[in-house]
Amino acid sequence: MDNFTQTPLPESHSWTPENLEAFWMPFTANRQFKNQPRLLASAAGMHYTSVDGRQILDGTAGLWCVNAGHSREKIAQAVYQQISTLDYSPTFQMGHPIAFELANRLVAMLPQAFDHVFFTNSGSESVDTALKIALAYHRIRGEGTRTRLIGRERGYHGVGFGGISVGGISANRKFFGSLIPGVDHLSHTHNLEKNAFSQGQPQWGAHLADELERLVMLHDPSTIAAVIVEPVAGSTGVLLPPVGYLERLRQICDRYGILLIFDEVITGFGRLGTSFATEYFGVMPDLMTTAKGLTNGTVPMGAVFARPGIYQAFMDAPENAIEFFHGYTYSGHPVACAAAHATLDIYEEEGLFERAKSLSGYWEEAIHSLRDLPHVIDLRNLGLVAGIELESIAGKPTARAFDVFLRCYERGLLIRTTGDIIALSPPLIVEKSHIDQIVGTIAEVLQAAI
Ligand SMILES: Cc1ncc(COP(=O)(O)O)c(C=O)c1O
Repeated sequence: MDNFTQTPLPESHSWTPENLEAFWMPFTANRQFKNQPRLLASAAGMHYTSVDGRQILDGTAGLWCVNAGHSREKIAQAVYQQISTLDYSPTFQMGHPIAFELANRLVAMLPQAFDHVFFTNSGSESVDTALKIALAYHRIRGEGTRTRLIGRERGYHGVGFGGISVGGISANRKFFGSLIPGVDHLSHTHNLEKNAFSQGQPQWGAHLADELERLVMLHDPSTIAAVIVEPVAGSTGVLLPPVGYLERLRQICDRYGILLIFDEVITGFGRLGTSFATEYFGVMPDLMTTAKGLTNGTVPMGAVFARPGIYQAFMDAPENAIEFFHGYTYSGHPVACAAAHATLDIYEEEGLFERAKSLSGYWEEAIHSLRDLPHVIDLRNLGLVAGIELESIAGKPTARAFDVFLRCYERGLLIRTTGDIIALSPPLIVEKSHIDQIVGTIAEVLQAAI
């Protein structure tokens, strides 16, 4: 492994709640945080260092993005070099070589599946881009009646209006008006009665994909543009696809000419021990959204992958006309491209996807050792992801998991919680000793938790 950069701690630790006020923090209980701040000063490898000098083991790869571990020298150097060489270049009617090289390199990761890449700056933008590609694709092929989009309950597709419309989390939707019209949702596949404590993919639930057939019949196939799902739902608590479920979605989409979009913002770049979840499950979508691990979380970047035929459908316009009226000032930003190249180098050189695969058995066993601990009502795992579902305290949903989160942080472990579910996704450089520490700390905390 190459070196991790060593960032010195800030000299002043004189943070007070007043200093923290102006930043309106995203997806955060702002007042709780500002009364009891958890501030990180630096990071290297598997650890953060807090502003008070404590080592915090990263059980979540930041926010599911730092797959190669923190502060990688190679990425830092590549970013520095790039800013010194070509800091910015438009990609509207202009270009620069490394964006093209990166696109070539990305499609080569799954050459049978995809042949074009559209660059964005985040997962949310990737999702909105994919939905727009789907709508425009049908229209330019003369099927402009296909305007409906189908998502799934408990799906998370970021926070753009497209993403929250196809997403299935009511708190993310209810404040924001009527959203985009013409969206319907499949049921989620999470069922504790049938599948609690499954190791790997659960056995029960493939038939839930048949709901798509029902929705198709309800709305008529000619009205449906695309179906979007996360192959493994991450943000709503690690919900795994039942055996055969994704295959059935694929079959139904094929039957009715509907595009299937896999949102791989979390599962992309090695999380399941393969390049992408599509490779893990052997089910190919028409469009695939990615972000996060593409640059190891260092520089914001996303990419939408398109299967052969989609880009070509747009190429009927006169040669000097813009074919797709969409893009971002920072699409294919040279600095992000440099970070992505260096990240892909590290993944390859260190065999990190294979590493994730080879550790997944140890991970599974470690996670399932928590079975008899207080409050645990389910454990689930795949690749280097795990969900630990806790029984909610009556009348106080989320309180127990949040208490566990705070206690873990006090003991030097960063976990992530959603509802009363703990979601774990360590960097792929994790060692067995770190896995022991993650599971050991959680076990200790669960004994004491409210
Ligand atoms: C599956 C999925 N899609 C989209 C997003 C949104 O990504 P971003 O926060 O980069 O916009 C996320 C973020 O966690 C995600 O998990």
